[in-house]
Amino acid sequence: MKVKLAAKAGFCFGVKRALDMAERTVENSPSVSLGPLIHNQQVVKRLAERGIRVVNALEEVSTEQALIIRSHGVGPNVYQGAENKGIQVVDATCPFVQKAQRLAAESAQMGQQVIVMGDKLHPEVQGILGWAGEQAIPIQTLEEAKELSFYSQLAVLAQTTQLAESFEGIVEELKLHTNDLTVHNTICNATAERQKAARELAQTVDVMVVVGGRNSANTEKLASICAELTKTYLIETAEELEVKWFDEVKIAGLTAGASTPDWIIEEVYQKMTEIDENEISMDDWEKIAPV
Ligand code: F3S
Repeated sequence: MKVKLAAKAGFCFGVKRALDMAERTVENSPSVSLGPLIHNQQVVKRLAERGIRVVNALEEVSTEQALIIRSHGVGPNVYQGAENKGIQVVDATCPFVQKAQRLAAESAQMGQQVIVMGDKLHPEVQGILGWAGEQAIPIQTLEEAKELSFYSQLAVLAQTTQLAESFEGIVEELKLHTNDLTVHNTICNATAERQKAARELAQTVDVMVVVGGRNSANTEKLASICAELTKTYLIETAEELEVKWFDEVKIAGLTAGASTPDWIIEEVYQKMTEIDENEISMDDWEKIAPV
């Protein structure tokens, strides 16, 4: 069996940046993150070992602790609350999410009805909605877009991890709900690149393995894209791989969500190649590892 790795897989720029910031911060002061820093249990466990505790509310933070805002970002109320309590904030919001937040706030200030396409329960969407103000409407599906009324001005933007095709469909529908539509395509390239690479690879293999947190939206999306094209398994760690998945498989594909570190991808790759009689060496991994 041959194992092929997607051309783009694993950590995106924003997650890598947030982790680097968190690691630098904890070297100098006790640190907490508001929610898990990334959607990957193994990484969160490693961070906890380094002293970064996860809190769920500002009430749990003391003034001696640095509060790390994760790459998903937060609404303005959190910055205000931290300032009121005298808490030092280390803002690791991904710059692409910050851009979406800024566009949401500006659109609302301009009097446009803001529509945010995404999962309204996802922290990134909740943060963006916070910047867009109370009038903003989160929608996830085309059906929800169809139910909207007619507005004099609409502005639409997307959770950074949304599928481009779904966003385009919603944009087309929104054109029927206003004569003045502003489209902010805030979908992140990192997501699109990983989705494109996963799609291309899934078309050429007998089975796909997607590695990432089960609670990670972008990992789930990668898995759903692959599942449309070939048999697909979503796992969090190498231990979950099952030999029987690769019965009669000539080529297996491997990809990983944006919150999956290289060391986990490497372990999975290694284990998959061990299923293969022509085991691939770690030197080969060095040549193909994602950048
Ligand atoms: Fe940022 Fe894109 Fe990653 S928005 S956190 S670089 S998926």
